[in-house]
Amino acid sequence: MAGRNFILLGAPGAGKGTQAQRLVEALGVPQISTGDMLREERRLGTELGKKAAEYMDQGKLVPDDLLIALIAQRLEKPDAAKGFILDGFPRTLGQAEALDKMLAAKGRSLDAVIAIEVQRSVIVPRITGRRSCPKCGAPYHVEFQPPKVADVCDACGTKLVQRPDDTEAAVVKRLEAYDTMTAPLFAYYEGKGKLRRVDGNADVETVWKRVKEAASA
Ligand code: AP5
Repeated sequence: MAGRNFILLGAPGAGKGTQAQRLVEALGVPQISTGDMLREERRLGTELGKKAAEYMDQGKLVPDDLLIALIAQRLEKPDAAKGFILDGFPRTLGQAEALDKMLAAKGRSLDAVIAIEVQRSVIVPRITGRRSCPKCGAPYHVEFQPPKVADVCDACGTKLVQRPDDTEAAVVKRLEAYDTMTAPLFAYYEGKGKLRRVDGNADVETVWKRVKEAASA
């Protein structure tokens, strides 16, 4: 594949986390999922985790300043020096501009923004059937991507959980936040010549072939 610094962009349930895991294996760079990082802060009961919980459970975005500080710290870690798959960040124009500044300050740049596009009709069934590993973050689906043993993570053997924001009511709010705050990033990255659109309305393996092509272009 051509580069190592990628963003995965897309609506809730588009398949960002699922495809990020495959890119991690193919590229040997870390997946940086702000959703997973915030859930870990919640699990640990940190101040950030407590603040984030108020927003997450209502399907709202967590304020930019908290997310920008979180990513700035994460990109300083040694494993991110060789590249990254950003999953769920940036999600606002303010976050995108802050990321550009952070990367420029390190003499780095994005290779591509891979946008996974899905029809609205697939989103609710994907999200309400999702189960996730609370330890390693691996995503599953009761019907479309079941684990080998029911409710147990294939990768680390931990019991799978359902996220508290994976209810139909929270999904409606998350989609509203996506439409107003995140959708403008398509034009932002298109203007920079970085956007690569991928049709995500297919099974996981078919979408993976398309993501691989987009990452290699
Ligand atoms: P986050 O955890 O990032 O959630 P999200 O963006 O809503 O995305 P999802 O994790 O729901 O979906 P996904 O695209 O990763 O889909 P997945 O691969 O799991 O964020 C959660 C919250 O944290 C936000 O609402 C916000 O409050 C806060 N937050 C996080 N980042 C933030 C930021 N930068 N700024 C502000 N706030 C932030 O797939 C979904 C399901 O479908 C799975 O079950 C999977 O198995 C299945 N599936 C995947 N692909 C397919 C396929 N091709 N066919 C059939 N099933 C599939």
